[in-house]
Amino acid sequence: MKRRILVVEDEAKLRRVIELQLVSAGFDVDQAASAELAFPLAERADLLITDFRLPGMNGLDFLAWMRRQNMQTPVVVMTAFGTVENAVEAMKAGASDFLLKPFSMDQLMSVVTKALEVRVLRDENRQLKEELGRRYDFQNIIGRSAAMQDIFAMIMRVAPSRATVLLAGESGVGKDLIARAIHYHSPRRDHPFVKINCTAIPENLMESELFGYERGAFTGANQSKPGKFELADTGTVLLDEIGDVPAAVQVKLLRILQEREFERLGSNKTRHIDVRVIAATNQDLRAALEQGTFREDLYYRLNVVPMSIAPLRERPEDIPFLAEHFVRTLSAEHGGRVKGVTASALNRLSEYHWPGNVRELQNVIERSLVMCLGDKLDAEDIRLEAARRPHLAAGEFALPDGMTLDQYEQAIIRETLRRAEGNKSHAARMLGLTRNALRYRLAQMGLEN
Ligand SMILES: Nc1ncnc2c1ncn2[C@@H]1O[C@H](COP(=O)(O)OP(=O)(O)O)[C@@H](O)[C@H]1O
Ligand SMILES: [Mg+2]
Repeated sequence: MKRRILVVEDEAKLRRVIELQLVSAGFDVDQAASAELAFPLAERADLLITDFRLPGMNGLDFLAWMRRQNMQTPVVVMTAFGTVENAVEAMKAGASDFLLKPFSMDQLMSVVTKALEVRVLRDENRQLKEELGRRYDFQNIIGRSAAMQDIFAMIMRVAPSRATVLLAGESGVGKDLIARAIHYHSPRRDHPFVKINCTAIPENLMESELFGYERGAFTGANQSKPGKFELADTGTVLLDEIGDVPAAVQVKLLRILQEREFERLGSNKTRHIDVRVIAATNQDLRAALEQGTFREDLYYRLNVVPMSIAPLRERPEDIPFLAEHFVRTLSAEHGGRVKGVTASALNRLSEYHWPGNVRELQNVIERSLVMCLGDKLDAEDIRLEAARRPHLAAGEFALPDGMTLDQYEQAIIRETLRRAEGNKSHAARMLGLTRNALRYRLAQMGLEN
């Protein structure tokens, strides 16, 4: 690509000589007789060569004006013989070089070449810095542990491609956050990111939610509607809790992954889409494979790039940084009084085993901020989940007075569901039940439709 140089010089003859020289050296040239006339040309220039003394605004002020407009274009200042102090002043103000009049065309070319090289270097440098900046600022994903650093490196490696990613990890480890980071570091960043929570969608509605439907496809389908996949075209789809997808839908997902095509319900028109798929699961999909509840072919289509996120208890070195991060980000909502965390509070947090992972840590910090009286979160302020008692000594097992075992079980299930924010898979896991076993119990309690 041709570089464009802007020449600002009030003396017409010199301006013309410089222009001819630069054009013959292969540059595009814009020229102006004053700074004011050059304003509209500055933006597109790769290099500015300006006289120091000009009618109206001088070269130095022009340089300052450009920097205020946030233009980092290199500037070469020409000054008359005997005014070296002007040249020095210009260099101090950020000019890349100067030319003392009269100068030869060789001198001109050598200064121009050097200034443009510096520009290239500076651009590269800026790109490098941006990349480094990103490396430690993953949309606010905190992680000093080696495990998380590996995840960051992985995000950078997979983001540019369309490769399907399978995120595995317990609930609350940050799968959502990581899926978003992949999207926002990918060329798709300006396109949609659509999250589909496979647990939240009732089985009988899942197909129409995912793939859309045409008018009249079923009773109540009064008008056509695009599905989530269509909405995500050119962007990224996050299939959350992929382990909960019923068999009928698994086949259709397989087709999307293999052919990138599908039909809306009630239509035989095949639609093609360009989506990147990220799937997340908090279950052991291999176990589901063995039980036959998850299709093997779908599993291998999803597992192109497996990423496994370690539970928080396996990376305790992240706890203090996460705690500080949450105090910083959540404190504002509570008046901004609390500014930090004491060492003893950090100790207390680090000793806990965090069954609910980062989400639980975030909740605990939020709850503790409410209780905190000082300007730092202290050990006494920390409110861990009260219901968790580490051990029951022999003889302590007993039903609360007046409760039957069934009632007790139901109370525990209700409480667990509440804590899992209604997420049945999550609740089932906390209870050590399969999702079906939980469903069966909920049905008995009249809670499952
Ligand atoms: N490494 C992290 N740094 C900062 N916040 C995190 C991190 N991991 C998780 N979180 C926060 O914890 C909560 C749970 O994370 P999420 O991505 O929803 O987990 P998952 O999808 O695995 O259940 C979210 O509010 C998220 O912002
Ligand atoms: Mg999630």
